[in-house]
Amino acid sequence: MSGDGEPLLEARGVWFGYTRGEPVIRGLDFEARGGEVVAVLGPMGSGKTTLLMLLAGLLPPWRGAVRVAGRPAGSPEARRLVGILFQSPDDQLFNPTVEEEIAYALLTAGAPREEAVEAARRVARSLGIEGLLHRRPRRLSYGQRKLVALASILVYEPRVLLLDEPLSNLDAGAAEKMLWAVRRHAARGGLAVIATHDVDLVLEASTRTCILVDGRLACSGTRELLRAGLPGVPARRPLSLRALASLCRGDWRCVEEAVTRAASAPPRARQG
Ligand SMILES: Nc1ncnc2c1ncn2[C@@H]1O[C@H](COP(=O)(O)OP(=O)(O)OP(=O)(O)O)[C@@H](O)[C@H]1O
Ligand SMILES: [Mg+2]
Repeated sequence: MSGDGEPLLEARGVWFGYTRGEPVIRGLDFEARGGEVVAVLGPMGSGKTTLLMLLAGLLPPWRGAVRVAGRPAGSPEARRLVGILFQSPDDQLFNPTVEEEIAYALLTAGAPREEAVEAARRVARSLGIEGLLHRRPRRLSYGQRKLVALASILVYEPRVLLLDEPLSNLDAGAAEKMLWAVRRHAARGGLAVIATHDVDLVLEASTRTCILVDGRLACSGTRELLRAGLPGVPARRPLSLRALASLCRGDWRCVEEAVTRAASAPPRARQG
């Protein structure tokens, strides 16, 4: 986990709801830096998707502020730095061919066609979908569509990737490509924030685990969380997140307490 430098993403005192008087996000604070892969867990309907939309600047907070590399979320400068993969790929595919789809962001930013198409082909090759370039996005399988949607974001090299359930319904090969892209993004100094129910994804890829309960986030380093284990349960060996979730029997408050405890553990205890 990178702890140095300015936050790439910062939310301060953010409140938001879809209906007046019914907030989903309640005074949320969050910050993350380049090199991090942050997993956001939480019960269904807790606001994970809403949070990603706020971080992307696609929803305006009632109160508080979100900044991307110091720029207000939603501003043209901030939008260029953020790529969001929606829960459903169909929400972001609308071009007649896969090649057009992937090149689209660069073309609309004014890149010459040849350059945009070359970049699209390069990204497609890196994800193993170059054989799909002349197909219609809408006619592809779900997993193929999800990789095309990812490619359409990676092509403009955003510094912040926001991924909503990126592995849902993917086979092992497609999931491996998705994880490879996330790891490479972080290794190059980018930040990835992943909303998910997938405990394996959290364990394999995240440097930090955050739990969204009651509209706020509790965060801890993923390894520290696994070492600190559950309040009141002496962990003789590192606890797996799956074991932790099952010990909590789906009680997110209990997982949240474990995360908060791990986050406040003294540094020596955290080295394990
Ligand atoms: N467009 C909308 N209009 C009104 N209410 C909404 C809208 N989108 C989400 N909500 C409500 O906001 C709350 C948070 O929803 P959200 O989709 O952010 O949760 P989530 O944590 O992503 O859930 P899941 O794990 O099922 O994906 C829920 O109560 C949901 O019903
Ligand atoms: Mg969701």
